[in-house]
Amino acid sequence: MLKKILKWTGRTLLVIILLAIGYYTKAHIMIGKRQHKVYAVKPVKLDIPNDSATLAMGRRLVTTKGCTDCHDKDLGGKVLFEQKGIGRLTARNLTKGKGGVPKDFDTDDWVRAIRHGVQRDGTPLIYMPSAGFNQLSETDLKAVIAYCAQVPPVNRENPPSEIGVGATIMADLGELELFEAEKIDHKAPVPMAIREGVTPDFGKYVTQICTGCHKPDMKGTPGEGGTPDISSTGKSARWTDEQFFQTLRTGKRPDGTELKAPMPWQMTAAFSDTEMRALRMYLKSI
Ligand code: HEC
Ligand code: HEC
Repeated sequence: MLKKILKWTGRTLLVIILLAIGYYTKAHIMIGKRQHKVYAVKPVKLDIPNDSATLAMGRRLVTTKGCTDCHDKDLGGKVLFEQKGIGRLTARNLTKGKGGVPKDFDTDDWVRAIRHGVQRDGTPLIYMPSAGFNQLSETDLKAVIAYCAQVPPVNRENPPSEIGVGATIMADLGELELFEAEKIDHKAPVPMAIREGVTPDFGKYVTQICTGCHKPDMKGTPGEGGTPDISSTGKSARWTDEQFFQTLRTGKRPDGTELKAPMPWQMTAAFSDTEMRALRMYLKSI
């Protein structure tokens, strides 16, 4: 009797293992296909100015758009996440130093990466949040590129990003967005310049980079480890303007609790008054 039961549990187990291998093989093939898909993007042709005003603007933008959070202050890149069984995520070295972008990395390559989330060969970058940068105005994009292209070379050879078993399964189940290129309308026209001011329009422009985590409707994602609702229905809508600004400047909420990672409050801390007020106005309007 016992023997019979053992035999059947053994068989059931075998079936489960085979099904798991089958599922993983399928997931692995699907992710491979997505990773090697070639996007036929046509980068807008830009003339990059390098006057000091543009460079100063670019220097500010790489902070306020979060580039330095991920690619490090010197833009030499760093490992953002690494766990055995899941994978490794590395924000690349953007300088011309050892381990950095190729010597002939040109304006088209910058536009492809920033606006479209794809590399020179048309395949998607992993996790680079280009959906939030796709609608950067031409003026802002030029300033970012002008600044990035002339930063001092940093010799840092970071280990490359790797999509491990865990990341493959999570991405296949739709729990992890690996390729922002998939979300982007690659033919969408770019705004030329944005009029800065305390207006909902400018607020919407500023919050593009929040949509990756807080979602386009700013209602976040529910549940444990989710992202909070920051629209007019969220808890933060009830804070005073001053409390709201303080939170995004110091990383501390009015009740004293800290904004935990991955909320990039060092980025919002660098926002100007106009950016803060416009953003607040927009969030309260939706
Ligand atoms: C959330 C983190 C994050 C932010 C914010 C971010 N990046 Fe990235 N970026 C990445 C990752 C990760 C990669 C590498 C992806 C890979 O390995 O496929 C990358 C790749 C790139 C590349 C491609 C480099 C190459 O060698 O092909 C460029 C260029 C780039 N980022 C520029 C920027 C700029 C400019 C900004 C700000 C406007 C920015 N990134 C903001 C995470 C980020
Ligand atoms: C990389 C993901 C990410 C991005 C990008 C991001 N946030 Fe967040 N944000 C979070 C997470 C996660 C939390 C919750 C942190 C915690 O639990 O302490 C949060 C919390 C907040 C809170 C506090 C809300 C509350 O109810 O406590 C505010 C306000 C906020 N974010 C505003 C913004 C704004 C504005 C932007 C864009 C300029 C932005 N965030 C960009 C992930 C992000």
